[in-house]
Amino acid sequence: MLRSSLSSCLRRSVVPILFATSVRSQRFCSSSSQTRIPPPLPREGAEENHYDSRPTASISIDRSGLYNPPEHSHEPSSDSELVKHLKSIIKFRGGPITVAEYMEEVLTNPTSGFYMNRDVFGAGGDFITSPEVSQMFGEMIGVWAMCLWEQMGQPDRVNLIEFGPGRGTLMVDLLRGASKFVDFTKSLHIHMVECSPTLRKVQYDNLKCTDEAVNEEDHTKSTISMLSGAPISWHSTLEEVPSGSPTIIIAHEFYDALPVHQFQKAPRGWCEKMVDVEENSSRFRFVLSPQPTSATLLYLMKRCKWAGAQEIAKLEHIEICPKAMDLTHQIAKRVSSDGGGALIIDYGENKIISDSLQAIRKHKFVHILDDPGTADLSAYVDFASVRHSAEEASEDISVYGPMTQSQFLGSLGINFRVEALLQNCTEEQAESLRTGYWRLVGDGEAPFWEGPDEQTPIGMGSRYLAMAIVNKKQGAPIPFQ
Ligand SMILES: C[S@@+](CC[C@H](N)C(=O)[O-])C[C@H]1O[C@@H](n2cnc3c(N)ncnc32)[C@H](O)[C@@H]1O
Repeated sequence: MLRSSLSSCLRRSVVPILFATSVRSQRFCSSSSQTRIPPPLPREGAEENHYDSRPTASISIDRSGLYNPPEHSHEPSSDSELVKHLKSIIKFRGGPITVAEYMEEVLTNPTSGFYMNRDVFGAGGDFITSPEVSQMFGEMIGVWAMCLWEQMGQPDRVNLIEFGPGRGTLMVDLLRGASKFVDFTKSLHIHMVECSPTLRKVQYDNLKCTDEAVNEEDHTKSTISMLSGAPISWHSTLEEVPSGSPTIIIAHEFYDALPVHQFQKAPRGWCEKMVDVEENSSRFRFVLSPQPTSATLLYLMKRCKWAGAQEIAKLEHIEICPKAMDLTHQIAKRVSSDGGGALIIDYGENKIISDSLQAIRKHKFVHILDDPGTADLSAYVDFASVRHSAEEASEDISVYGPMTQSQFLGSLGINFRVEALLQNCTEEQAESLRTGYWRLVGDGEAPFWEGPDEQTPIGMGSRYLAMAIVNKKQGAPIPFQ
């Protein structure tokens, strides 16, 4: 009964049934602690409905408060390898580079990009994400994936693709939460699209991976996650992921890391914002392009065609993410040819984005041009553009949403999950659990908070949005009906 009617019983609160015997990981740290993240306790044999407690607002900043950044500090740039590299591109080019080029180098330059050499998450890192806030996030994404799998007719083989998996925490929680559903977990071939060698290693470890020899002669091997026995592989792009099997795609806080072009209205028309080096001080600075750039002609024009004249007239700044358009195009094509669907969750808006690009270092907002490579850069996602790009790519797909993260997780039954967990925990764990729950679905400052003001948990519930791109054969995905 459970296996065959997931989606139909979701509305009758499937979540308590789903997780009744799920094996839990247990990690614990006090929600009021600034830095303490004790090591994981053993997972095996954990009792029903136990939970792990993760860093909360008291120690970590999420990346969605971008329109109201605190004061910028403007530290001088040190001449790191990346700074030298950026300056050499500008010098070689004989002029400034686009903000998108700057952002791409800063985040993913193979030797010194922000993501490439270190673990940037959590209290000791630069920011926090929903999977790191609470195990319930990955579990709910698992519910969504299982329901889609059921709508697809429970195929024997599914490509489960995650873009930008960070520490792999979402996938760990998804697999553990779904462990009772053996037919589902057995069908999974997991594909991680990740640019960072360091984070690939963290994902490998957290997913308890092991390598098995496939062919002794040519030393080919396959990697298995011991959490579920699923084969798992890593890729740099979606094109590298083999096609031909029904597909479930997850992109959580991936789109916001894709490079954006910035445009500014000037007396001579829309100009592109560029990054240049000051002649006297050799510090980075912003300049405006003297005439329309290729991005202005290609992408700004394209995006503006999807918007109303009134919407454009009100704007002094516009941000466009061509990589998000291209990726969405590819996702829609893949979902169209292979069946299945994609879930995109991120902070953003359902309209043109004005001026959202920001930098975060060690849980503080800093200037975008400060010490490049040592701070995360991210921008709001333009969900309207994602919708248009998907619809333009294929007539065989439908786009649903965006809806708020709060609606999304609430409709999937997170309330039942938190109640179940609260029945089996200590007072200290309950505080951490409530804080995590608020961060995922709440809006603004947590009303129950009695700790220090500067540590008040801020809800991500309405600032994060969820959108699904699904093959029409599957019908409307849960909970977008
Ligand atoms: C903000 S983190 C989100 C991590 C994770 N999804 C989470 O919610 O905790 C962005 C992730 O995308 C990866 N990433 C960023 N740009 C990428 C690119 N162009 N190609 C592949 N991975 C990328 C980063 O290394 C990191 O794992």
